[in-house]
Amino acid sequence: MVKKIDYRQHYFPGSRQELLQAVKKSVKAKRYQHILGVEQTALKLAAVNGVDLEQASVAALVHDYTKNRSDDEFKQAIKKYQLDDDLLNWSNFIWHGVVGAEIIKTELKITDQVILNAVRRHTVGAKIMTPLDKVIYVADFIEPGRDFPDVEVARAVAKGSLDQAVAFETKHTLTYLINGSQTIYPGAMAAYNQWVVKK
Ligand SMILES: [Fe+2]
Ligand SMILES: [Fe+2]
Repeated sequence: MVKKIDYRQHYFPGSRQELLQAVKKSVKAKRYQHILGVEQTALKLAAVNGVDLEQASVAALVHDYTKNRSDDEFKQAIKKYQLDDDLLNWSNFIWHGVVGAEIIKTELKITDQVILNAVRRHTVGAKIMTPLDKVIYVADFIEPGRDFPDVEVARAVAKGSLDQAVAFETKHTLTYLINGSQTIYPGAMAAYNQWVVKK
């Protein structure tokens, strides 16, 4: 259970309950459960790593807000928000972060760039990641509902070091994409070079 957290800093123009309702309406039931798990884990990681709890809560609750939107809606949004045309070559996996942030800004009236960047970067990471980016990225990977080989290893790593958890997750995601012969989003390569490669 998430401890009662009051939204006092106005990252979202409403209460946590109101945000929960909006998110619940926007996604499928299974996705909503995942989102609650991400918030729970994000709050723990935020507390340990000196990240603002309200920012962590809002970012976690909205990170997958557009995950169940149609491809058509994302393509229209790429035009509407005048985002890079190259985005049209990608898919929901990338869109719900990078394009999702714009939709969140419009629909939920969340304008805090730190929160929006955490949404943009939550799927494959990025070269530059703020502490909040890392918290959301890692919480998304290890929340209690996640079940994949190595999830316990990832959870243990995250307990020890947020940066090491980012490295573990980035390597894991890239390996998964390569094993599936899937295209690697440039941001994922940048994240790998930054966080995984030993300097
Ligand atoms: Fe996501
Ligand atoms: Fe997620």
